[in-house]
Amino acid sequence: MNAALDVQGLTTRFDTRAGTVTAVNDVSFSVEPGRIMGLVGESGSGKSVTGFSILGLIEEPGRITDGRVLVEGTDLRAMPPGQLRSMRGRKVSMVFQDPMMTLNPVLRIGDQMSMAVRVHERMNKRQALARSRDALAKVGIPSPEERLSAYPHQLSGGMRQRVAIAIALLHRPAVIIADEPTTALDVSIQGQILAEVRRLADETRTAIVWVTHDLAVVSSLADDICVMYAGRIVERGTAEDVIARPRHPYTRGLLDSVPGQHAPGTHLPQIPGSTPQLSRLPSGCPFRNRCPRATEVCTTEPPVARFGGHTALCHHPLEAA
Ligand SMILES: Nc1ncnc2c1ncn2[C@@H]1O[C@H](COP(=O)(O)OP(=O)(O)OP(=O)(O)O)[C@@H](O)[C@H]1O
Ligand code: SF4
Ligand SMILES: [Mg+2]
Repeated sequence: MNAALDVQGLTTRFDTRAGTVTAVNDVSFSVEPGRIMGLVGESGSGKSVTGFSILGLIEEPGRITDGRVLVEGTDLRAMPPGQLRSMRGRKVSMVFQDPMMTLNPVLRIGDQMSMAVRVHERMNKRQALARSRDALAKVGIPSPEERLSAYPHQLSGGMRQRVAIAIALLHRPAVIIADEPTTALDVSIQGQILAEVRRLADETRTAIVWVTHDLAVVSSLADDICVMYAGRIVERGTAEDVIARPRHPYTRGLLDSVPGQHAPGTHLPQIPGSTPQLSRLPSGCPFRNRCPRATEVCTTEPPVARFGGHTALCHHPLEAA
């Protein structure tokens, strides 16, 4: 059986004043139907560019220079633009951090959802509204029938984000890319939405890529985790392995800075330094200036991943405990 999403060697570059930067560098992963993959990394690590590249939404000064993006075995990069547009929203959809990227403020929820349904499927308005109502119910929105006649501003931030997720689900896509969709929300609402998303993935068999800078968010929700640093995937494995037995020093650092792992009042360890600018990456391993395990070889040789189940892009990975 094909993976719902299979990304192979995806590479995206931007031409900037400081030269060409590689924002997504040879990224590969796959997500099986019904599984949730957490894509984690600090700001600027390339998570959103990865999401946009998968959907074919990279614009000047950016371009995808390499790689394949297979959705249920079909290569999106080999598709003519018209066909790709029709895949978007139908087979692959995206949920953004700000639900107003999806929602139209001047249209009632029911009107915009039924329009979204009818872009890809022939059905009358009544059927489209019924489909919309079901999608709202699926994401845990109470009294979905009443919400159809609401305008976005009449809903709370959490409800608006649920509506955006419901819209992404309308065509029962194979893949949903969710780019930090709960970051702006209160922690308890985040938890509720994540629980709904977990249930949806199980029920609809949609494969979900959940982008976040917060490893704690995905630790309880995701099946698999990919950790990104400076455009590369530096560690990947099952969520259980990555959280319990991180192998890359960067992942270890991220986990050490997760609140809740330390006694209240103690100082949280932070990874020293900041994400390097892509136009000024150090030689060898891009993490070496911040890495407690760095040695000479890290300065001269870029690490190469040894592929296997739980993989780290590192010369001196932490031992699997
Ligand atoms: N339009 C652009 N022009 C030039 N460079 C860009 C552009 N968009 C992104 N980049 C480069 O790609 C890098 C990764 O950006 P991206 O938005 O994917 O980061 P991110 O991991 O989603 O960060 P955040 O957590 O802040 O959303 C940026 O640091 C920047 O160097
Ligand atoms: S390759 Fe070296 S510098 Fe890079 S993460 Fe591994 S030990 Fe640290
Ligand atoms: Mg982003």
